[in-house]
Amino acid sequence: MKYIAPSILNADFNHLERQIRNVELGGADFIHCDIMDGHFVPNITFGPSIVQAIKNMTRLPLDVHLMIDDPEFFLDSFVESGANIITVHQEAVIHLNRTLNRIKELNCKAGVSINPSTPVNILSEVLEIVDQVLIMSVNPGYGGQSFIESSLRRINELHNLRSRLGLKFLIEVDGGISLENIESISNAGCDIFVIGTHIFGHENVTAITTEFKNKVNSTFV
Ligand code: DX5
Ligand code: ZN
Repeated sequence: MKYIAPSILNADFNHLERQIRNVELGGADFIHCDIMDGHFVPNITFGPSIVQAIKNMTRLPLDVHLMIDDPEFFLDSFVESGANIITVHQEAVIHLNRTLNRIKELNCKAGVSINPSTPVNILSEVLEIVDQVLIMSVNPGYGGQSFIESSLRRINELHNLRSRLGLKFLIEVDGGISLENIESISNAGCDIFVIGTHIFGHENVTAITTEFKNKVNSTFV
């Protein structure tokens, strides 16, 4: 099974509820919320109170991607706001084992993410703990960037590592995914596709969500 997680980063925030309903109608599996602090990444987005508002707009699970320094101080707030999955960046956390276990203690799914310049094998000691690994395929901070081609090799490396270790975590890929490159990303081993601009920049958000969903689930099962 493959999943679509529309990122609302570049959605129309004046009509957020409608935009979320449209991806839901199109068959989205998660709502991906990008949290940025202006420090770990050069952009600022929103915090737990907006996540709480989004929670009230949808029944889809919220996939909360924390691009913030010291995320351990905000885990409780995001869980209370309705996060179903919390992903922290390996580069932003000193005590990664503790932080991931804390997310799980809060009855939330735990994810870890790595930037394009971080080697996949740095995660070897936490792969048994996590529910998902998020491979950044752009440098985090903005929507609408181009997919970094070396990400395909990295996704595949993680996919092979998962098989070798007999683990079950999901592989999520975030940044620059389009209808043109989604097939190769899927073939490399991605399970969850985060898509921002190519969904919310489209004139028919529902139809394009369905197109992405059908493409990953029909062509590549
Ligand atoms: C980038 C964010 C992504 C981004 C994806 O820092 O983590 O979720 O919004 O958007 P697109 O699909 O436009 O690259
Ligand atoms: Zn993201």
